[in-house]
Amino acid sequence: MKTIVLTGAAGNIGKVLRQQWSDGRYQLRLNDIKPLGPMAAHETLHAGDLRDAAFCSELLAGADAVVHMAGIGTDLELDLLIEHNLKALLSVYQAARSHTVRVVYPSSNHAIGMYPVETEIDEYAAVRPDSLYGISKVWGEGIARLYYDKHGVESVCLRIGSFETEPFERRHLHTWLSHPDMQHLVECCIEAPQVGFQIMYGVSANTRRWWQQTDNPIGYQPQSNAEDFAARIADIPSRGGPLAERFQGGGFAAVDYSNNK
Ligand SMILES: NC(=O)c1ccc[n+]([C@@H]2O[C@H](COP(=O)([O-])OP(=O)(O)OC[C@H]3O[C@@H](n4cnc5c(N)ncnc54)[C@H](O)[C@@H]3O)[C@@H](O)[C@H]2O)c1
Repeated sequence: MKTIVLTGAAGNIGKVLRQQWSDGRYQLRLNDIKPLGPMAAHETLHAGDLRDAAFCSELLAGADAVVHMAGIGTDLELDLLIEHNLKALLSVYQAARSHTVRVVYPSSNHAIGMYPVETEIDEYAAVRPDSLYGISKVWGEGIARLYYDKHGVESVCLRIGSFETEPFERRHLHTWLSHPDMQHLVECCIEAPQVGFQIMYGVSANTRRWWQQTDNPIGYQPQSNAEDFAARIADIPSRGGPLAERFQGGGFAAVDYSNNK
């Protein structure tokens, strides 16, 4: 059985993956700085801060993959982004290098959020971050690339769209990633014999998706489609006002926008 490190296990995505893997298909090392509750037979608790390089090294030793869901998911404070999305990620990659562990890294659609909604892109399009948060994800993709080129550490960077139980606004017709598709995507990252360095769009099989996948070495085949909810959500505007409707990053793209174009 594979041993998987799940960081950020107390967070939104971490909690769902933990539940999806409650059948014991993996031996799980669960990490967070927040409480994680009682452990099941296939789980072990590794509470601690990933900025601590020695802790990270211990956490990853002997694991098959790290699903690194720990981080800051907002654009509020540069210092927090630097601490948890930049420094902590570097500790994780140093540990992955020391112990030859594959990394599943959650990048974000906000790395490419300034593309207009009329544009379709694939994973090779130039980055167009929509926020400091988006820039922190570009940093993460850069670290992943560096550690593969220089040290052979394999990574799949997931440009996650909108991870929700159900889509609830117009933008989600393009960006939704369902819970079952996320589980399948992460398991593809873990189980593929080789991944090298790969960027994958973390998006369901939405009819209106903006993001196309040119290379799919992990065999991701999403099943959900936000179009099934179109009648209910097509008239619900995206949070963030009219600017959020113009750019793929939605509300993040609208914050502090001062361009007169
Ligand atoms: N939820 C989405 O739709 C979405 C979309 C795009 C990208 N992402 C990315 O996916 C990842 C997971 O998202 P989420 O919604 O579950 O986030 P979340 O904020 O709910 O959970 C993140 C968890 O990481 C933990 N954490 C933060 N810093 C830590 C550190 N230094 N050491 C140990 N634990 C730490 C937090 O305590 C928290 O429980 C994030 O990197 C986020 O940027 C999420």
